[in-house]
Amino acid sequence: MEGVIDAHTRDLLTRRPGFDWTVTEFVRVVDARLPPRVFRRHCPELDEGVTTPSGVPVALQLLGSDPAALAANAEQARKLGASTIDLNFGCPAKLVNRHDGGASLLRDPRRVQAAVAAVHAAVGGEIPVTAKIRLGFSHRRLALDCAKAAEDGGASQLVVHARTRDEGYRPPAHWEWIGRIRRHLGIPVVANGDIWSLEDYWKARTLSGCRDVMLGRGALADPWLAPRIRHWLSTGEQLPATPWQARAEILAEFAALQRITLPERVVASLVKQWLNHMRQRDVEAARRFQAVKRITELEALLKGLGGAAVARDRGRLELA
Ligand SMILES: Cc1cc2nc3c(=O)[nH]c(=O)nc-3n(C[C@H](O)[C@H](O)[C@H](O)COP(=O)(O)O)c2cc1C
Repeated sequence: MEGVIDAHTRDLLTRRPGFDWTVTEFVRVVDARLPPRVFRRHCPELDEGVTTPSGVPVALQLLGSDPAALAANAEQARKLGASTIDLNFGCPAKLVNRHDGGASLLRDPRRVQAAVAAVHAAVGGEIPVTAKIRLGFSHRRLALDCAKAAEDGGASQLVVHARTRDEGYRPPAHWEWIGRIRRHLGIPVVANGDIWSLEDYWKARTLSGCRDVMLGRGALADPWLAPRIRHWLSTGEQLPATPWQARAEILAEFAALQRITLPERVVASLVKQWLNHMRQRDVEAARRFQAVKRITELEALLKGLGGAAVARDRGRLELA
């Protein structure tokens, strides 16, 4: 998730069994072949076997509309070691859509197919190409056509965020629509949108008929959501609710990792950004957010959260 889930976050979220794979923030492709440093910045895991430190694979996501440019950049990413290329046809951001990227392609399924086909022709013989769509731009009438276009273009898996672009992130997610799509496709379809809890997970699976789901904001709101689902699937038992202390510790570890390269103030705002996601679904996180939201000094912020790890100096980790 752009601006939210970077390599450190992927690392932290995959330390406990739960996720089968992860995806980078999108790499924006306009026309030129991007330099290697852009791919490495989005996906530092390229130099580490393209997995998180715990061994969970990382797909590299491209967002763009020009098939030739997407193909050239997919080829570039493959040469740098990418093991899966994911194509983003779901981004609702006005700026991205105005420049004809993300969900704007859903207005014309032929363009989805052309983009996927070009990337598949460039790298599909070597590595899988996957795609992510919404149910449409301003209506759902082309949902199935867009999904089929991705499949016909050569996508080996399709994630469907169960809302149109115009629906933004407004609930509800229309999980039953994912089922309509799934029934007409031969490739695996993955359900996405508004899975915040084990109950949501089961409902999304039941209504969509999908075996797999993708978690976005829910994994930030409760970093134990994926492990919770995995635990329940393998034992039939429910893990207790995630205690505040566990949340505080993950935020402190996050701060320590980010502090290796980023200034204190930037790290403090990133910590508050994650806490903001947690507070939507947790009373104690909401209380702590109110208490620390104006603090810009990292150590004071972490103290306010009651976490244990403090990164004092640039480049140095200090776990107290
Ligand atoms: C801040 C933010 C950034 C996002 N960035 C990306 C992105 O880079 N690539 C992508 O495929 N989806 C991105 N998404 C969409 C999510 O992956 C997901 O499809 C959407 O949030 C719905 O799922 P959720 O309800 O589980 O969050 C982003 C969403 C948010 C809120």
